[in-house]
Amino acid sequence: MHEQGSLARARDVIAAFIRSCDRIVIFTGAGISTEAGVPDFRTPGSPWLVHKPIPFQDYIASEEARIEAWRRKFAMDDIYRHLGPGTTHQFIAAGVASGQVSAVVTQNIDNLHQRSGIPEDRIIELHGNGSYARCMSCEGRHEIETIRAHFEHHGYPPACDACGGIVKSATISFGQKMPTDALRRARDAMTCADGVIVLGSSLVVRPAADLPIMAVEAGARLLIVNREKTPLDSAAECVIRGDLPATLPEFWPLTDMDASVTGP
Ligand code: APR
Repeated sequence: MHEQGSLARARDVIAAFIRSCDRIVIFTGAGISTEAGVPDFRTPGSPWLVHKPIPFQDYIASEEARIEAWRRKFAMDDIYRHLGPGTTHQFIAAGVASGQVSAVVTQNIDNLHQRSGIPEDRIIELHGNGSYARCMSCEGRHEIETIRAHFEHHGYPPACDACGGIVKSATISFGQKMPTDALRRARDAMTCADGVIVLGSSLVVRPAADLPIMAVEAGARLLIVNREKTPLDSAAECVIRGDLPATLPEFWPLTDMDASVTGP
């Protein structure tokens, strides 16, 4: 494991890593969205640190907790709704389009990978998605706008119109069961990859943070790009300690195969 000094060197290392892999999984955290203006969860001063997260069991048990959770969500949505995918999202989307990236395993809930044009079936969301809601009983989908209209009129969120169940943002809260299908797809992708690139994650939340290690144990090489140290740095072939997107190559690198096909 070695850390990179210069920016140009970092870009060259990332490009070389990409060119040397056939089947890459990209694992993303909130650090890829800060460039787009969406704050991450643990950098000091983040608005996410203002409130203690509402545990899932409290949300289910108490209407007061549900009202507070929706109030916070609408406030955050109002601040960040206008933001779109950034350069790092576009770089990742180019990797998927190249055929080299088999899956994007993300902890992010901001829907920016979808908005960058990556097909839904290549995105694996470990912590859900905050752009819609789900009934906790029948799992029916509910649109945020409908919930907000009811909330602003009545002062509390609606129950599920299909079954009367509790409706919650489709994100995974602390204490909530992880999505089994997403975890299965993520594990499958990681164990079939020959390279994993972690972008912008503190890698402190499990079981998400266990996934890159699962890939390494199955023989994959690991590259981490993050502003700060992570608990997985020692397992990485290379750690780029720097900012996204500055440390990324300007374009998704062509492999030797691509270069020969594109010709002179
Ligand atoms: N370039 C490089 N690294 C960055 C940048 C940037 N522009 N911006 C932030 N970072 C780094 C931060 O230094 C931090 O180490 O990205 C990391 C983001 O870490 P977290 O804020 O902990 O976000 P994440 O790893 O995605 O959190 C995982 O924790 O709270 C839960 O469910 C939530 O999905 C989230 C999970």
